[in-house]
Amino acid sequence: MELFGFRLPEDFLIGTANSAFQSEGAWDRDGKSESVMDYYAREFAGKEVANQSAFVERSRYSEELPDRGCYFYDNYEAYIEDMQKTGQNTFRLALAWTRIIPTGFGEVNQKGIDFYNKVIDKFLTCGITLLVDLLHWDLPQCLMELGGYENPDFPKWFEAYAKVCFEAFGDRVKMWSTFNENAIAVTNGYFYGSFPPFRKDTRLGLLAAHHTILAHFRAVRAYRATNQGGKIGAVNCITDTTPAEPCEEDIGAVARQQEFTFGWWVQPMLEGTYPQRVLRECPVIRENMPENYQQDLDAWFAPMDYIGLNYYISQRTEYNPDTLLLSNRVESFYSTPGQSYASYPAGLFDVVQYIGDRYHNIEMYITENGCAMPNSGDEEKDCEDDARITYIREHLRSCARLIRAGYNLKGYYYWNDADSYEELDGYKLRFGLTWVDSKTGRRRWKKSRYYFSKICKSRLIN
Ligand code: NOJ
Repeated sequence: MELFGFRLPEDFLIGTANSAFQSEGAWDRDGKSESVMDYYAREFAGKEVANQSAFVERSRYSEELPDRGCYFYDNYEAYIEDMQKTGQNTFRLALAWTRIIPTGFGEVNQKGIDFYNKVIDKFLTCGITLLVDLLHWDLPQCLMELGGYENPDFPKWFEAYAKVCFEAFGDRVKMWSTFNENAIAVTNGYFYGSFPPFRKDTRLGLLAAHHTILAHFRAVRAYRATNQGGKIGAVNCITDTTPAEPCEEDIGAVARQQEFTFGWWVQPMLEGTYPQRVLRECPVIRENMPENYQQDLDAWFAPMDYIGLNYYISQRTEYNPDTLLLSNRVESFYSTPGQSYASYPAGLFDVVQYIGDRYHNIEMYITENGCAMPNSGDEEKDCEDDARITYIREHLRSCARLIRAGYNLKGYYYWNDADSYEELDGYKLRFGLTWVDSKTGRRRWKKSRYYFSKICKSRLIN
C-alpha cells in the first residue's frame, strides 16, 4: 500500500457528465418534441414553486428557459475535442427520449438517431468511452399528459424506447443507465410537489415510483436479451446523513431517510424488495402501497450490474412524528444556511462505504459530484474558480482512499462538463469546468478544467 499521495488506478474511469435537456439546446429542432422540463420551465418561468431542497421552502423558477442548454447540439464536436484535450477517458451522456420517439411511443425519429450516432462516433474517435443514460428527467410531455409514471403502461413505453436505443447504439455503447435520480423525479414530483408534475399525493407517488422500478426491470431484461455484452445499472442520488442528536430516535430517523430516499430505489433494483423498515415504521407509506407490489417485483426482478451514485451534500436528520418518514432533515454543520449545495468531501467516503458494505461491494461509480457557484456576471472571476479546484481535489482524494480501502469504486464523473441550464436556477447557478456564455455559446476553460486535466493525465491527485 502506498502511504503518501493519492493515485487513481489506470483503469479508473474519470471524466465529466451532462444531461440532454441541460446541455443540448435545439429543444424543438429536427423533430424533437417538448419534454416535461421544457414545458414546466415555460409554465413556471419567474413564478414561485415549492423547493426541492430540504432546507429552502419555496423558490422562484428561473425566467430563463432550457432552450439553448450549453449549445451542445450545434457544438458537440468542439465540446468532445475539448474533452479529449482534457485527457478524460469517459463521459456520461444522456439521450433525449423526445428526440428519439417524439410521440413517446410509436414512430422513431430518424433525425434523432442520426444526431446521437454522430455524437457517439465522435466520442469513440476521440478515445472517450460512454456511460449513457436513457432518461434524465426529461420525460416527453405528451406522456406526462397521459399520466406519465402513474400510467400502468409506463413500463411498456419505457421498455420500447430502451429497445430502440439498444438496437441503434448498443454496438458502441457498453455502459447503460436506465434512470437518473428517479427518486428526485418521483419524490419531489409527488410527495413534495416541487418537480414535474407538481403533485402532492402519496398514493400516486408510490404508484409512480413502483412503475419506474418495473420500467427499469423491463429495460434490464431487454438489454440482457440483446446479448450486446455491456453493463446496465441506474443512477441514484445519495446524501450523507447523520443523526441531529446522539439519540436512538434520531438514529432511527436517519435509517428511514436513507432507506427511503436511496434504498427505496436501489434495494428493489438489486434485491427485488422494498426496505422493510420503511414499510414497518411509516404507516402512511404502508397503507398507500400499490396493490400486489411484491408480486410485481417478483415477476419482473432483474438485478443490475452496478450502482451509479450522485453525491453532493450531507444532512442531519431528526425524529419528527408529523412527517411521512417520521423524520425531518435539518441543515448539516457543514452548510451555509439556506444554501442547497454545501460541500462535504468526507461524506463521499461514508456513502460509498455504506453502499459497498450493504450491497456486497457491488461495482460503483460516482456518476455526479460537482461544485455549484453563482454566475457573477464577471467572466474573469468565474474562470478563476479556485474553490472548485479544492472541491475536486478533496472529493477525488475520498475516491482514492476508498479504492485503497478495497471498495469497488470504478469511476468518477464531475458534474458538469460545461455551464448549462440548471432546473429552477437557469444559468445563474453554474457547475461547469468550461465557462459558457449563455447568450452566444462562447466557451472558455476555467482554471478547474486545467487542474482536472492534470489529474486525468497523471492519475495523481496533488
Ligand atoms: C442532479 C441532477 O441529476 C442534475 O440534473 C443537476 O443539474 C444536478 N443534480 C445539480 O443540481
